[in-house]
Amino acid sequence: MKEIHIINGPNLNLLGRRQPEIYGSQTFEAYFATLQAAFPQVRLHYFQSNHEGALLDYIHEHGFRADGFVLNAGAYTHTSIALADAIAGVKTPVIEVHISNVYARESFRHHSFIAAVCKGAIVGLGLRGYALAITALLDE
Ligand code: DQA
Repeated sequence: MKEIHIINGPNLNLLGRRQPEIYGSQTFEAYFATLQAAFPQVRLHYFQSNHEGALLDYIHEHGFRADGFVLNAGAYTHTSIALADAIAGVKTPVIEVHISNVYARESFRHHSFIAAVCKGAIVGLGLRGYALAITALLDE
């Protein structure tokens, strides 16, 4: 069974309550249950942290055996060279996901430090982006 890890970065624990006009009103825990039902053939894991180092540790720990990471790094996308180095340093392919269309928002959201070391990116399609990323990883 393939193992895919969904990794959410800072403030994404607030999904459902945080700026629902941008991020929707569903909690990630509720959405994760629908993902598990949609992909019964995959062992899905979910990890969220507000701490950059904890995200790095998780990528190091699972990045040599997991089949894929779906990573929404939140604001660390736009700031973290360390996260880019962690992704580059492991074997597991990573798909970058953003719920909102970062290119239609403030210019500081237009640059991603992780894009160049990810396999691809899905941006602006809401929570659906996570399911699309899993589908893409399964095609690998
Ligand atoms: C986000 C976009 C980021 O710019 C922002 O900092 C987030 C969420 C998204 O999913 O749209 O926290 O990654």
